[in-house]
Amino acid sequence: MATHYAWEELYAALPTCSLCGLAGARTHVVPGEGDPQARVMFVGEGPGREEDRTGRPFVGPAGQLLDKMLAAIGLKREEVYIANVVKCRPPGNRVPADHEAAACLPYLRAQFALVRPQIIVCLGATAAKNLYDPNVRITRDRGVWQNKKGVWMLPTYHPAALLRDEGKKKEAWEDMKKLRDKLGELGGT
Ligand code: URA
Repeated sequence: MATHYAWEELYAALPTCSLCGLAGARTHVVPGEGDPQARVMFVGEGPGREEDRTGRPFVGPAGQLLDKMLAAIGLKREEVYIANVVKCRPPGNRVPADHEAAACLPYLRAQFALVRPQIIVCLGATAAKNLYDPNVRITRDRGVWQNKKGVWMLPTYHPAALLRDEGKKKEAWEDMKKLRDKLGELGGT
């Protein structure tokens, strides 16, 4: 697979991708969306039911919460770029298998190379494990900045986890404030 894509090539390649078994069950591939020059990228796990139906990331219940979290720190979804580790829905919303994530990661890396964000927010353990440390435990490691090759990475809870357990919202809010502060520190357009 190519590792360097132009945006048009990436969006053209994804709908016909069959690099893993998830392709067989999808309604739509969910490439990602947002500002192609965003300062911040949010990376989730994989499309759920609504995302598979519409072809857009984070538009179901977890996405609605993500929109609120963004708004709480003065960001609009159009100002960030939102993507997932896998671009096709895992059946029953199961966690993507390692080989599925591995097959799909070059697309996400191509998106990083095109957007060149200052910050990547890992929404949940699947994103954090696949992006910087397979041993991450999100309850232990969330909220701790990592700098990987000049890009700041912030692991935090997946919004779906916040919907299941309201008790996590306080920590998630702390993480969003860290994000707001880091954006202020780094400056830029
Ligand atoms: N959960 C995710 O991880 N990604 C989405 O796009 C939607 C729900």
